[in-house]
Amino acid sequence: MSTPAPSSSIDTGFGNLQIRRVAGHIGGEVQDLALSPDLSQEVIDHLHAALVKYKVLFFRGQTQLDDRAHQAFGARFGRTVAHPTVPSPQGTKLFELDASKGGGRADSWHTDVTFVDAFPKISILRAVKIPAYGGDTVWANTAHAYERLPAQLKQLADQLWAVHSNDYDYGADRVQVEDKRLRHHREVFVSAVYEAEHPVVHVHPVSGERALLLGHFVKKLVGLSSSESARLFELLQSRVIRLENTVRWGWQQDDVAIWDNRATQHFAINDYGDQPRLVRRVTVHGEPAVAIDGQRSRTRSRPEATNDARIDEVIAATA
Ligand SMILES: [Fe+2]
Repeated sequence: MSTPAPSSSIDTGFGNLQIRRVAGHIGGEVQDLALSPDLSQEVIDHLHAALVKYKVLFFRGQTQLDDRAHQAFGARFGRTVAHPTVPSPQGTKLFELDASKGGGRADSWHTDVTFVDAFPKISILRAVKIPAYGGDTVWANTAHAYERLPAQLKQLADQLWAVHSNDYDYGADRVQVEDKRLRHHREVFVSAVYEAEHPVVHVHPVSGERALLLGHFVKKLVGLSSSESARLFELLQSRVIRLENTVRWGWQQDDVAIWDNRATQHFAINDYGDQPRLVRRVTVHGEPAVAIDGQRSRTRSRPEATNDARIDEVIAATA
């Protein structure tokens, strides 16, 4: 009896891109491609289409990318934006996560910057310094999580809205939070309080897929008490982070990961002790989420001058 050939792990459906499937429901490694701001529009379009399918794309050995090229490459996907509250390295819009500093460990499940209504659509993370062991990142597919919900839970989730804030319960799900991290969170991350309301289920603007929009910035569900909110949040969030719904990436120096922030959550595993770990992120502006009935995310609280606007002014003044 002949055994069936294993199905190929290489997807050649995106032009000349060679994409190796990394996990069953999320994640693809694009092989033999040097990322650059000068890639043809055709390649950028294929990368974007592959990103919408795989939710997170990985690239090894991107030694040619420095901060400037990283940022210029990100701009090929849309307007790049700085973090609303955390200052960027001089003259850039990069968001730096340095494990040796207070705010440098993203060890809790989240979607980036959902405390604003128009949260980023794409994040591009580059590994500048990686520990000898540990420090992997895990991504979860929030569209697949919704798809796998029982019909009754879909109906419930479809009607819910959540308040997201940067002033959330920082210590709630972290195994260990040192004083300096708490201080950084309070003094830098929450230097200005933002709040936005998003539908718990939103429609992806490109794929049309429905996806759960939750993560650690959720403060409460609209119209419910805090204890009811916490229970329902837990119920739905636990569906997002089921292991079969995730992909885990073991970083090497100069790797790049690009994720569709509209269809994922991620978690940086804090298991590398005092080893140095430094990654930099370019973030691409997104649109407010759209609920299944067409309503859009709303701002509840937004300080007057955003960090991004200030940086635009500085760059304009120094360009
Ligand atoms: Fe993040």
